[in-house]
Amino acid sequence: MGGGIGGRCWCTIILFALVSGPISYACDACDLYQGRWVYDESYPLYDSSKCPHIRREFDCIKYGRPNLNYLKFRWQPTNCNLPRFNAKEFLTKMSGKKIMFIGDSVSENQWQSMMCLLRTSLPPQSIINEQTVNSTTTATFEDYGVSISVFLSHYLVDIVEEKIGRVLKLDSISNGDVWKENDVLIFNTWLWWYRRGEKQPWDYIQIGTNIMRDMDRMVAFQEGLNTWANWVNTEIDTEKTTVFFQGVSPPHYNGLEWNEPGVTNCAKETLPMNGSTYPGGVPRAEMVVEQVLSGITKPVSLLNITRLSQLRKDAHPGRFNNFGMDCTHWCVAGLPDTWNLLLSAALV
Ligand SMILES: *[C@@H]1O[C@H](CO)[C@@H](O)[C@H](O)[C@H]1NC(C)=O
Ligand SMILES: *[C@@H]1O[C@H](CO)[C@@H](O)[C@H](O)[C@H]1NC(C)=O
Ligand SMILES: *[C@@H]1O[C@H](CO)[C@@H](O)[C@H](O)[C@H]1NC(C)=O
Repeated sequence: MGGGIGGRCWCTIILFALVSGPISYACDACDLYQGRWVYDESYPLYDSSKCPHIRREFDCIKYGRPNLNYLKFRWQPTNCNLPRFNAKEFLTKMSGKKIMFIGDSVSENQWQSMMCLLRTSLPPQSIINEQTVNSTTTATFEDYGVSISVFLSHYLVDIVEEKIGRVLKLDSISNGDVWKENDVLIFNTWLWWYRRGEKQPWDYIQIGTNIMRDMDRMVAFQEGLNTWANWVNTEIDTEKTTVFFQGVSPPHYNGLEWNEPGVTNCAKETLPMNGSTYPGGVPRAEMVVEQVLSGITKPVSLLNITRLSQLRKDAHPGRFNNFGMDCTHWCVAGLPDTWNLLLSAALV
């Protein structure tokens, strides 16, 4: 686990402190999030044409992506290895459990990758039921009693239709009772907080009794996340339910961030960044995420995907998706598979 929010690291430190005193070298031993991308001939982990129902936004090969280098990179942590995904082991360990991804289309991106990782390595006679009810799509792997769903919620906090219009309520979460029923929750929100004009799905924004036309979006994001953090603190029994928050998924529209000034999208990118550092630095939103998580009293793990994803300017659909330039989402197969390897490593 990475840095402070993980869990395993602190145990290691305490253990060393009790046993032998020196605590300085204990922590970095297994930071799965510190590393680099290496070429690996055995990748990708599956053939995306064998995975049904990939959303058109993510199915890059189907929409004609010619350069397939992006499939050939494996995340190599500096001081340890990230275990390869093992579908049977994952489903066996998770037997009887319900897993839910909650958030915007980036959550759906990760859920679809998880579906492909599982479906393409199970025997064809496996019984997998998929159904969509309200905002939730659920796949149930009947042979293992495991269900994996995705709940679409752009902001985690509510948008309510009122007389004045659609109100984004920064201090209200009304879907929590559905989320709480699960054994594993993976939250994410960020993409929609800066949407304006026609793409903005609300007319007013509210905190307490204060209703506004607009406000500083980063402050709004922080308010919303704090509401979510309070909800976890008061509503989640973390003995029963394991909670993850997914770090910010970085878009690539500003070449300055990767030392190509003047470049305004990911269209020509065919290789990851070399090494472990990203010139663009840590996104402000990620700092807000880490700040909110550090103040939460319940154990919540950060799925710290930001840096390793920043290095993957090559892994977006670009124009190979049938609707326009997309340097926000990620091809499946591709980078989200690594997010799921990290999730699996944290769970199994
Ligand atoms: C997330 O990972 C990056 C890169 O390894 C690291 O610099 C940062 O401290 C990590 N954040 C947390 C909260 O662990
Ligand atoms: C779906 O939403 C409707 C309307 O909000 C609600 O009445 C119904 O119980 C929901 N169904 C499920 C299975 O949650
Ligand atoms: C990447 O970095 C390594 C080590 O710093 C170096 O040996 C290698 O040549 C670099 N590769 C590219 C493509 O720049």
